[in-house]
Amino acid sequence: MTANRDALIALAREICTRAHAPYSGIHVGAAIRAASGAVYGGTNVENSAYPIGNCAEASAIAAGVAAEGASFRIAETAVWAVDRDGLAIAISPCGGCRQRLREFVVDGQVLVHFSWQGEELRTATVDELLPFAFELPGTRKP
Ligand code: THU
Repeated sequence: MTANRDALIALAREICTRAHAPYSGIHVGAAIRAASGAVYGGTNVENSAYPIGNCAEASAIAAGVAAEGASFRIAETAVWAVDRDGLAIAISPCGGCRQRLREFVVDGQVLVHFSWQGEELRTATVDELLPFAFELPGTRKP
């Protein structure tokens, strides 16, 4: 499991170097291991019309859905962020991304690893990040 985690972190760290984040200067990479075993990555993509930018988690989810369609499920996720100088910064997933991640897990025990101050790594379950998550009635995922 640690090997999986470390590989995801390495991918998130690599991807965040390619972020398009000229406005915030916060360069984020997300790496998702799907239940299929495949790994998908994504980065944040900002836009001069600020609200239409994408978070890294959303980009990684989009890659997974594009590859696997309706059967895409998240088994583990890592998110890493650096500032303009390439120094690691805390990137607790935003509220919207917590809901996005929740959409693709079978249960809330799936682990999310994310960079914290000074290169520290934090790990939380999806349920810890988003207790009492909204779920459309009748749409529980198999
Ligand atoms: N961002 C992410 O990519 N993921 C998160 O969970 C939080 C925020 C991005 C969005 C924006 O490009 C930048 O970080 C600053 O908010």
